Amino acid sequence: MTTETPRLTTPFTARTTAAEILDGVDLTGRRMIVTGGASGIGTETVRALARAGADVTVATRDPSKADGLVAEFAGPGPGVVRAAALDLADLASVDAFVTAWQGPLHALVANAGIMAVPTRQLTPQGWELQLGTNYLGHFALVRGLHDNLRAAGSARVVIVSSGAHLREPFDFDDPQFARQPYEPWSAYGRSKSADILLAVGIARRWAGDGITANALNPGYIHTNLQRHMTDETLRAFGVLDEAGNRIDLPYYKTPAQGAATSVLLAASPLVEGVTGRYFSDNQDQEVADGPEPTVGVAAHAVDPAAADRLWAYAEEALASR
Ligand SMILES: NC(=O)c1ccc[n+]([C@@H]2O[C@H](COP(=O)([O-])OP(=O)(O)OC[C@H]3O[C@@H](n4cnc5c(N)ncnc54)[C@H](OP(=O)(O)O)[C@@H]3O)[C@@H](O)[C@H]2O)c1
Repeated sequence: MTTETPRLTTPFTARTTAAEILDGVDLTGRRMIVTGGASGIGTETVRALARAGADVTVATRDPSKADGLVAEFAGPGPGVVRAAALDLADLASVDAFVTAWQGPLHALVANAGIMAVPTRQLTPQGWELQLGTNYLGHFALVRGLHDNLRAAGSARVVIVSSGAHLREPFDFDDPQFARQPYEPWSAYGRSKSADILLAVGIARRWAGDGITANALNPGYIHTNLQRHMTDETLRAFGVLDEAGNRIDLPYYKTPAQGAATSVLLAASPLVEGVTGRYFSDNQDQEVADGPEPTVGVAAHAVDPAAADRLWAYAEEALASR
């Protein structure tokens, strides 16, 4: 992620599926959590990890949504899938999840997210909902599970960000849109910049505990994430036709392809020890340049000073909730 370290390359492409990433990899005995695992990319992440033998907990607001996934792995084959309640927008729920988790944790995939919520909504703690869910909730979760990650001896944190981080740095002056007009896409982009800074912050703090952390952009995938977008906006994006049918643009991925980079970072031996980086299409990305970059990682999202400042902001936000 930083310019000093050489980029890691893998043999995989944008079209590689999550299952292909783990071909020949045995995850038996590894305990993992995937937030938002009952839908979209998260579901395919859970499937690939469990098929390789992992014991995966789907952390979801409504555990019954994972019933089908749990049942898929209820038989004698490799892998186990469980479901547990977690509302990232409510710290009481995050605390309850952390308290209930016992024993080591080998991988935490911070996958849950919401996008472009049309109006400024607040969490029970009074935080803007996209920041509260996508970043602050995951910060509280990962910090709460630190000892469990350390207990694994070698653990990985994977943060699902987005290419939308390129449009907006985290706004330290007004992180909650308290003084400026709320803008849904800005709030999303800023929360996703914060997510990458979270990976950098963990990498800077917890390497000595055997914990690595990396962030990623999964690409474009049709999922429930687009739930807040109107048909008009979807048409403007070119992904909905006049009859209301979904259009698969050439660069769109299937959910199984969209889950590949998460799975690579959570479990592939190819990235063992790699930390503090940002991946896209299964490749380590360089810092983007130019006025309006569309690929790579923004300098504002990998700035170590910003990562430390954001960590302090989050600590303070949690302390004063
Ligand atoms: N799809 C894309 O094109 C794309 C592109 C870039 C980045 N991403 C990122 O990829 C990740 C996965 O998104 P997706 O596309 O798979 O969308 P999705 O199908 O909507 O899945 C998102 C998941 O987040 C969960 N979630 C939302 N709010 C939550 C909360 N307060 N507490 C706990 N869980 C919550 C949802 O759970 P419920 O079932 O309870 O609603 C859902 O399972 C997100 O972080 C997203 O920003 C996606």
